[in-house]
Amino acid sequence: MNIACKPYARRLLAALAILWLGIAGAADRERIDWWREARFGMFVHWGLYAIPGRGEWVQWNEQIPVEQYARLAQQFNPTAFDANAWAGLAKSAGMKYMVFTSRHHDGFAMFDDGGNPFTSVNTAAHRDFVGEYVKAARQAGLGVGLYYSPLDWRYPGFFFPDLQRASAEAMREQYQRQMKALLSNYGKIDVLWFDGGEADWLSFGGDWGGAEAGANWVKRPWGKHYKGGFDWGHQQVYEMLRRQQPDILINGRADMREDFHSREGEGALGAFDNRQPWELCSTIAGAWGYQPGMVPRPLDHYIRLLVNVVGRDGNLLLNVGPGPDGRIDEVQAQRLREIGGWLGKYGDSIYATRGGPFLPGDYGVSTHHGNTIYVHVLKWAQDKLVLPAIPARVLRASALTGGAVQLAQNGQGVELTLPAAQRDAIDTIIALELDGPAAAIGTRAVP
Ligand code: GLC
Repeated sequence: MNIACKPYARRLLAALAILWLGIAGAADRERIDWWREARFGMFVHWGLYAIPGRGEWVQWNEQIPVEQYARLAQQFNPTAFDANAWAGLAKSAGMKYMVFTSRHHDGFAMFDDGGNPFTSVNTAAHRDFVGEYVKAARQAGLGVGLYYSPLDWRYPGFFFPDLQRASAEAMREQYQRQMKALLSNYGKIDVLWFDGGEADWLSFGGDWGGAEAGANWVKRPWGKHYKGGFDWGHQQVYEMLRRQQPDILINGRADMREDFHSREGEGALGAFDNRQPWELCSTIAGAWGYQPGMVPRPLDHYIRLLVNVVGRDGNLLLNVGPGPDGRIDEVQAQRLREIGGWLGKYGDSIYATRGGPFLPGDYGVSTHHGNTIYVHVLKWAQDKLVLPAIPARVLRASALTGGAVQLAQNGQGVELTLPAAQRDAIDTIIALELDGPAAAIGTRAVP
């Protein structure tokens, strides 16, 4: 049949194409739905670097020779490691997923990588920590994430991808092999959290400047890209990971199409964004990797952080760095349980919500779910809170945190009054019940 001369056939094809695009778009949305609803996860940085206890960058920061650092693997025998205890703690913190460092920049694999001698299976511990972790997190009903660093400081090719091309290619070979192992040997993986895989991160983002730049290393200016001949081969990995794990979510640190974006550190809290899914990662105390005696901040700090992230429509991935024996410091565990206690009471205003419609401002933030807007008042500038007008009727205003809210709504806006003594010291949460879905209201700046 000659399709070109059959207009109805062309229309049918066009309709099918639109349907297919719609289904593909919906599939993407569905893949990420559980993650968006989860809102809060646990990041765990744990590897050989827990032994010196000076953070996960210790080898680089102190320029410890590769062979010397590798000897730590003979001492690594964390007898108190208990993946179920980690997962149990994540649950009691109100977290819904975990992300564990399967291999960091030091190159030590926490899983079975066949004959590779530098793994937790082939050294003193003789254990596959990724396997134990995946099983425990899955059993606890948590989303299972793996952090993975394609870059490996043991390869001169990372620093000199062109001069040391064979080494860079060996690093790539390891990356592809390890990806295959991680994606095939542990069942379903929900999140793959890349770090250090961008081509622009090769040689730490610097280029040899040549004579005109004074024969020096020059930091590649923003917007300029690595122009050398080495290629990470991310496209092959991307195809493999979509084939092996069709529902997996990936962040954007390996030059691949990302499902969500990573913001790193509390300083990167940034702006409200309800289009591109995003996650802020941050540590509970100290470095990402273990440092002894790190005392977390008071509870209100983490509640405000979580609320500020969720009110900007993001997720929070809060990191702990267990010690060399595998245990998470008790003071940190205690703080996590307190966060979980708060979420046990006020989780309705966090889980399965989206940010807005009232944009973040001096007062705090807002979230919504169904017909309810949750106003998180972190600071009262005056005796009442004045919010801009919305095209919906507020049927009822009540404070989740206690007290009697007075509500006044007119064409100018929504006014909420709560006596000072009834406000919460951390976050006064006021639920506004509307006569229709809150998602239908567009975002509104709060002056
Ligand atoms: C960085 C660091 C790393 C840490 C990560 C967490 O890029 O290289 O040590 O694992 O951030 O976001």
